[in-house]
Amino acid sequence: MSSKEEFFAHIEKGYTTKGDFITMGAAMLNGETVTGAHVKVPLKTLNRHGLIAGATGTGKTKTLQVIAENLSDKGIPVLLMDLKGDLSGIAQPSPGHPKIDERHEKIGLPFEAKSFPVEILSLSEQDGVKLRATVSEFGPVLLSRILDLTVTQEGIVAVVFKYCDDNKLPLLDLKDFKKVLQYATGEGKKEFQESYGRISTSSTGTILRKIIELEQQGADLFFGEKSFEVDDLTRIDENGRGYINIIRLTDIQDRPKLFSTFMLSLLAEIYSTFPEQGDSDRPELILFIDEAHLIFKEASKALLNQIESIVKLIRSKGIGLYFVTQNPTDVPDDVLAQLGLKVQHALRAFTAKDRKAIKLTAENYPESEYYDTKEVLTSLGIGEALISALDEKGRPTPLAATMLRAPMSRMDVLTDGELKDVISSSKMVKKYNETIDRESAYEILNEKIEKAEQVAEKEKNKPAARKTSTRRSTRMNPVVKVLTSATFIRGVLGVLKKVIR
Ligand SMILES: Nc1ncnc2c1ncn2[C@@H]1O[C@H](COP(=O)(O)OP(=O)(O)O)[C@@H](O)[C@H]1O
Ligand SMILES: [Mg+2]
Repeated sequence: MSSKEEFFAHIEKGYTTKGDFITMGAAMLNGETVTGAHVKVPLKTLNRHGLIAGATGTGKTKTLQVIAENLSDKGIPVLLMDLKGDLSGIAQPSPGHPKIDERHEKIGLPFEAKSFPVEILSLSEQDGVKLRATVSEFGPVLLSRILDLTVTQEGIVAVVFKYCDDNKLPLLDLKDFKKVLQYATGEGKKEFQESYGRISTSSTGTILRKIIELEQQGADLFFGEKSFEVDDLTRIDENGRGYINIIRLTDIQDRPKLFSTFMLSLLAEIYSTFPEQGDSDRPELILFIDEAHLIFKEASKALLNQIESIVKLIRSKGIGLYFVTQNPTDVPDDVLAQLGLKVQHALRAFTAKDRKAIKLTAENYPESEYYDTKEVLTSLGIGEALISALDEKGRPTPLAATMLRAPMSRMDVLTDGELKDVISSSKMVKKYNETIDRESAYEILNEKIEKAEQVAEKEKNKPAARKTSTRRSTRMNPVVKVLTSATFIRGVLGVLKKVIR
């Protein structure tokens, strides 16, 4: 057997799957594509998370597009965090190109141009389905994490939530939360002190300041109604294809706090909503985070811990998280260690620091008699990557330098007109985009304060009656509560340690 035939057999054996799979492209040897040596990732292990890394312009975003399309075709819905705004083209077919045909000929895979069902979502003023969550749903633990509060301040936040719960005051937006906080050390001081103990004005002052900072990053747009139901992310179109939900985050780059608030809220909500999967043949939903360094960059230690534990736990719900970033070192080690699929595009070796990163990256890949990993890492072309996946038994597949297939949809963005068409024909936009500001803590407390003043004026004719209400309880989602409790996380970590080898 020639070494090429041997290599073909090696790849074929390593990438054979019993169940369904997606095809990434064909393996390469000595810089040449070995036609038909397909690199396949089983659907079964796609919930084991992944990384797409590489220098700018090497093809990371297109790889993301390729995986998303192929998942959609298999009826698996996808959520893309589009920080640069370059993914909307998925809603239109590829115009095709001789170079694409050439690429696919080498791979040994027919090229088919087509569009995919797309839903556009937004966290800010931009058009699309508005993503929102109420402060109650967000809960005291996540709110404290995102505000980076001390233990004392966190205690106050918990008391505020408790007070609202006890008094049936809906906490919908940040305006509600600020109002209760002010009330606790102002007009309602006595009432608070009696039932919940003394609350220091300096602590509430700090919390207020931090909330205002969060608002300045646009979080006031995120908190409120109508809150988004994560089940709507798993829609399948009439042809059985999974929806590709694209969150346009182009105006979020300079607002990392808002981005991590949203990410954390989304992951916690998904975790609490989706049922346990057990041993499933396919994932329920795959999330891609492009430019992922942004969520880790300004995250506090507490927030990082939170992200790490959610990444660990969410897998069992059939949710796969894929981080797309320039350098694998952008992702914290604890998260990196949990990633099953690795797609490493070319890295550049300009500086000593670059070379060190290349060495570290190479060490994280399985050894291969066919490649000098460090060498391959710097010589990969555009749209080529080193791939290592997990087979159906959870074992790493053979390392494969891969000529990736081209996206079936457009590699360029939608025009403004095309984008408008997608948005105006969306049922989800109709469902979510009405701003509601129903009576909540803010209005109720204002009313209460006003009444108290009137009563005082009438010189104690009657004491102010406590307002009762049948409105929806502000109780924190119990699963999120459990999920974020330290004991629970410690427990799960213990179990995980035992399970992982
Ligand atoms: N799989 C692919 N098939 C065809 N062309 C590709 C592929 N991957 C990348 N390219 C080409 O390389 C360009 C840059 O890719 P992109 O994914 O935007 O890079 P990155 O996200 O790493 O900066 C694309 O515009 C496209 O022309
Ligand atoms: Mg990119």
